[in-house]
Amino acid sequence: DRGVKIAPSILSADFANFGQEIRAIEAQGADWVHVDVMDGHFVPNLTFGPPAVKAFRPHVKTVMDVHLMIAPVDPYIDAYADAGADVLTAHLEAGPHIHRTLQAIRGAGMKAGLALNPATPAEAVAHLLDLTDLICVMTVNPGFGGQKFIDMTAKIRALRAMIGDRPIHIQVDGGVDPTTAPLVAAAGADVLVAGSAVFRGGSVDSPEVYGANIAAI
Ligand code: DX5
Ligand code: ZN
Repeated sequence: DRGVKIAPSILSADFANFGQEIRAIEAQGADWVHVDVMDGHFVPNLTFGPPAVKAFRPHVKTVMDVHLMIAPVDPYIDAYADAGADVLTAHLEAGPHIHRTLQAIRGAGMKAGLALNPATPAEAVAHLLDLTDLICVMTVNPGFGGQKFIDMTAKIRALRAMIGDRPIHIQVDGGVDPTTAPLVAAAGADVLVAGSAVFRGGSVDSPEVYGANIAAI
């Protein structure tokens, strides 16, 4: 434990057993549960939407961290509030009015997350910091689990300096494993999303594998 929170991404879980999978990862030490919503438009893959996320809610005892890889975002904010998201993260690249989107997320009673694709510089958040509770630094191009880590440690360091003493989490998402986790934690990340590195080798019938995988990150 290097003082960071681990947020397993259920994108790598058994899609026929989300409730059991969520309970298993929490029993095995997950700090948050990361829920990847994809629309087949902003990213080239589809997962699930508000009714499924609402069905996950009763199984999540920790923090339900919903990562929207969708565009537009604004028409769906109320649906994710109703689904019970604790943190709702939108991509800076998802539309021209991310400032309005972050305001609306907080206005709906959720923590506001701001995700940055690998090509988006740290400086892009400069006028958004007072509207943001979490910055998600993507270390893959979003859309799929199991991709190779892209080194964004310089961006993480720059964000940490910009944030100063504001209470803003820096989350890292994509390719986090026992090799890359120490790099991003040292750079200043405090919430690590991991999909394949948590779920590999385990199942709801062998959940201790999840525990060992989480402990190894
Ligand atoms: C990628 C998703 C990630 C993904 C991480 O588009 O946002 O949360 O599931 O998966 P791994 O840890 O396998 O890279
Ligand atoms: Zn994600």
